[in-house]
Amino acid sequence: MSRLLHRTLHADPPLAVGGSGMWIRTADGRDILDGCGGAAVACLGQGNAAVRAAITAQLDAVAYVHTGLFTNAAAEELAELVLQDEPGGLSHAFFVSSGSEAMEAAIKLARQYFLEVGQPRRTRFIARRMSYHGNTLGALAAGGNPMRRAPYAPLLSDAFSHVSPAFAYRHKRDDEDEAQYVTRLATELEAEFQRLGPENVAAFCAETVVGATTGCVTAPEGYFRAVRDVCDRHGALLVLDEVMCGMGRTGTMHAWEQEGVVPDIQAVAKGLGGGYQPIGGILIGRKVIEALRAGSGGFMHGHTYQAHPVACAAAVAVQKVIRHNNLLENVRDMGARLASALTERLGNHRHVGDIRGRGLFWAVEIVRNRGDKAAFEPVLAMSQRVKEAAFRHGLAIYPMGGTIDGEHGDHILLAPPYITTATDIDAIASRLGDAVDEATAA
Ligand SMILES: Cc1ncc(COP(=O)(O)O)c(C=O)c1O
Repeated sequence: MSRLLHRTLHADPPLAVGGSGMWIRTADGRDILDGCGGAAVACLGQGNAAVRAAITAQLDAVAYVHTGLFTNAAAEELAELVLQDEPGGLSHAFFVSSGSEAMEAAIKLARQYFLEVGQPRRTRFIARRMSYHGNTLGALAAGGNPMRRAPYAPLLSDAFSHVSPAFAYRHKRDDEDEAQYVTRLATELEAEFQRLGPENVAAFCAETVVGATTGCVTAPEGYFRAVRDVCDRHGALLVLDEVMCGMGRTGTMHAWEQEGVVPDIQAVAKGLGGGYQPIGGILIGRKVIEALRAGSGGFMHGHTYQAHPVACAAAVAVQKVIRHNNLLENVRDMGARLASALTERLGNHRHVGDIRGRGLFWAVEIVRNRGDKAAFEPVLAMSQRVKEAAFRHGLAIYPMGGTIDGEHGDHILLAPPYITTATDIDAIASRLGDAVDEATAA
């Protein structure tokens, strides 16, 4: 019996004992191909020597200092590395230990910004249904997944309200084109601002590419420009959550680069440290920093482990490897190969409704019936079945149920490490294909 509270008390997961590059070894001697980087985290795979060396060197130098007393070279270097050319006017970073902490910081900073600029009434946040921003109470309140919210609903702040997701496969009507769909969504957002009173809204929060909740859903063309316009018109901030889709996962360092907009505050995490250490952060626009500088002079928020030296040293090494090995180009090339390999293997499968994504961030939506997009009954736990079948075929994938409304629908998320090769990609598509065949045939 394990004394660890696993994700379920009904079964213990396999014990991982080793790993190298794209492969994870289990205690019973199996080698599993990593098709998902855990939860889109392990962007360099396992065992990168440069990252390991950076972590030990940092431990030898300074293991920990408190940010109230000292700064540290690793955190300074990480901020410089990520923001040296001020991408989109983002000028400062605040590093924390997870994606949820990053979103908590983003929400609190947006609120504080409006106190600094003399608009204290702005206390409302608009986010989207079928989104995920983390599991701590503030981030969970921002998120729009009904199943995750339900048990804790009495504890969640009503400062957050939700508009429709931008999810064309499920919600674009047949009688509207993409531009009309975008207009409908922007009109709904505008109506929500009006309902709340635009002068009361602090920010609109969205994942640039939706991650686990609905599975690698990119927005329709022009959507983010339209929502940025609504925010600008009403003086609200745009907070983009790139915890999962950011730091190169979609083929550009920031997913917003492909949307023609810039956020005021951006949350990042998984790909920042690649899982070598727990780390997240917010990247902050100059406008927000200047308001703090002219006002109270600091962020009224903090954690014991913020800007942790070892976490930052690991992230610096990860980011250098990505740059030096030109891995974003590999993300784009291998992403294109993954898209076509998945389409070839599963594009006509009667239980595959949609294959979608960008870069090395792809999802396959599993349906009972391709024609009417009907989902399998939730009791079948189809995404879990595909996960188990994939494991039997030596492939790790990230399954998720509730794709449509938090309860119905299934998808499989793929997010291989950026170091992946054509051989790996072909194996991922072929093993996933076999797993989908097996799980849906049962
Ligand atoms: C978009 C998004 N935001 C926030 C989080 C929360 O991150 P963490 O699990 O590190 O707290 C996640 C995690 O999956 C995520 O995908």
